[in-house]
This record gives sequence, C-alpha cells and structure tokens, in this order.
Amino acid sequence: MTDKINPLPQPVATLATGGGISWPGDSHWGPDALERAVQVAGARLRQPLVITDPVVWRAVGPAVQAALATVPGLSWQVYDGVVPNPTLTQVREALQTARRLGCGSLIAVGGGSAIDVAKVVLAGLAGGLDVEELQAPRGRAWLDAPATPEDALLLAVPTTSGTGSESSSAALIQGDDGRKHLYRSLRPRPAIVALQPSLTLGLPPRPTAHGGFDAVLHALGTWVNTDPSPVGKALALHALRICLPALPAVLREPDSLQARADMQMGAYLAGVAIGLNKVDAVHGMCTPLEARVHLTHAEVLAPVFSVVARHTVQTHARPYAEAARALDIASTGNEQHDALALIEAVEGLARLGGIATRFTDLRLSAQDADELATRALRSASTPLNPRPLAHPDIRSLYLQMAHPGVSP
Ligand SMILES: [Fe+2]
Repeated sequence: MTDKINPLPQPVATLATGGGISWPGDSHWGPDALERAVQVAGARLRQPLVITDPVVWRAVGPAVQAALATVPGLSWQVYDGVVPNPTLTQVREALQTARRLGCGSLIAVGGGSAIDVAKVVLAGLAGGLDVEELQAPRGRAWLDAPATPEDALLLAVPTTSGTGSESSSAALIQGDDGRKHLYRSLRPRPAIVALQPSLTLGLPPRPTAHGGFDAVLHALGTWVNTDPSPVGKALALHALRICLPALPAVLREPDSLQARADMQMGAYLAGVAIGLNKVDAVHGMCTPLEARVHLTHAEVLAPVFSVVARHTVQTHARPYAEAARALDIASTGNEQHDALALIEAVEGLARLGGIATRFTDLRLSAQDADELATRALRSASTPLNPRPLAHPDIRSLYLQMAHPGVSP
C-alpha cells in the first residue's frame, strides 16, 4: 500500500541548516485559565507589577484581582499607563515603578501593547539595564542569552487576539526618534500565559477584526517563507486552519465564547510560529511604512499584502497553492490559480473586517520609496520572502502601493 503514499515534495528536516525550538513556558487555556496560570506561577509571583491600560483594567481588572487573591499573602501593584503604539516613555515609567516598589515579577494584562511594554520592562528589570542600554551591546548580550531560572517572571493575560505577543519573540516599541524598534528575543517571552476566552469578549468589532487579520498574516507569512523549521511550519498551517474560519465566526458572533476561544488559540499558535520562523516581506515592508502613516497595523498590512503576495506568486506560487489545497480553498492542479484563490480569500477576510486592501491616500516620492526599501531590508523577515526581493524590487512595490495599478 505504500505506493499510494506520495514522496515528500522536498526534504522537511533539511540537512543544510540545523534548527532548534524553545517552547514558550506554561500555557493554559479554557474558562479557568487565569486562575490555573496564577496557581502555577505561585511563589514566582514575587510582588508583581501589573502592566496594563486603563480601559482594559476597568473591564478585566476584577477578574485578574480575584485570581491573584487566591495566592495566600500576595500583594501586587498596578501600572495602567500603557497606550496604543507604546513608546519608550511607558517602558521607562513602568520600569521605574517596578524598581521603586521592589517588584520581582510582572503580569501583562491587555493586547500586544501591554505585553510588548512588559517584555521590554522585564529585560530591564531582570537584566539590571536601563532602557537605553537594551539596544547597545550590553543589552543585546542579555537579550541573546538563554533565560535562567533567576530571571523575573512574566505572566501574560492577553485580552485581544492578534499580535501573538504572548507567544512570540518580538516586542515593538516606538523609540525616542519616533521610529518603531523591534526587540527580538526569546528571553523576555512570557513564561506563563493565560488564554481565557471570556477576557476577550468585550473587545469591540474593530480591534477584533484588525487583530484577527494580523494573526492570519502571521500564520500565512510563516507558512510561505523560506525558513525551513518544520515545527514553525506545522504550527503556521494549523494556525491558518483555525484563523481562516474563526475570524468570520467571531465577527458574526462576537458574544460566542467558542469563536473567541478559536480566534485566541489561532493567534497564539501563529505567535509561536513567528517566534520560530519569522514572517515574510509583507510584515518586513509594513513596519517602515507604519511610521509614516496614521493607520493601524492591519490597515497597513492589508494593502501591502495585496501587492507583495501578488508579486510573489508570479514566480513562487507553490507555498500559497499548497496552503490553498490543504485548507480546501482551491485544488485545481494549477499552482497560479490556487495561490491566487488563497490571496483572494485573505483579501476577502480584510474586507469582511472593514479593512481596505488599497491605500487611498499614500503619497510617496522616489526618495521616500528608496528609504522605505532600505529599512524594509533591515527586517529579518524580508529576506525570507519566497520570491527574493532586492532593493529596486521593494522600492518598486512601495511605489505601486502609492499609485495602485500603475507600474513605475
Ligand atoms: Fe503583525
């Protein structure tokens, strides 16, 4: 019967490059995930500082405090100064608060912004570093070293489903120069995560749609890119399998705990996948553009995806076609056709969530596009795009986005 089994189209465990994984620590999901996570943390919750924002804390603070109250003798403090697109100002404030109050652990409660701030605060706190040092050699050395049992604990309680910050190795913080800086390290990744779907029920439709779309592009970017790590690939495809139906379901039925749970798990798995394999040029080209426009991450991602993915599949359709077939989106035997069907399905999800797939007011000069391309190439994900993109290619793609339909 083995003659019915097709051989692998290409090696999975490649001999050309080795690999390894570092699983995120303890993850708990389900209706009582928060209480179980707090119990597992136990004595490692030394005088924790909760890092959150005021809106989230009003909504879920009582549930978090009730869970913390189950640990005998535990006292905690709250820093609720996190804002969307956080800057180093919030990191400094929270780090100073943690030091002043003698906090020995952190609990991030909120979306990607709160968790990203907490990751960088943790690096400062556990590494004995000031914020400015984190991008200098001393800080890099701490971030590049493996986690130790003595590192302060970070427990993440996500209240949104999208960024995957609770499980990824990345933290995006706006620097003093106004640009977004990516801190990439496995060391400050939350050691304990509580995925409790009820905590995401209050998320309004817009962030629900935008976060869900971001998670889809994390999973897809990891699946199609050239990083061969088989574990990340498996997680990415499974995350796509979850997110593609979960996103329309959660938009249709925002009060459905099942839909919220599925979306939360899909975003979490996609986060683990990007922590292992990174993403593609869609995210690599998105970050520099985000510093120039007043749009959300998803509002930049969707038009960038539309242009970059269509350009990529002209020569490298296979991974997109494989996903389309694995997910029962299209299976015609024609790679181009199946790949485009997947792209159209993803664009359809954006539109369903009210996210435009074209920029309507993006003005870029040739020099702007040059600078953006230079920055996009600094991303670790851009070189992993299935279709290799050199500086002139990226420049040209940016100009296409600014002038849709016209090739410069
Ligand atoms: Fe993203």
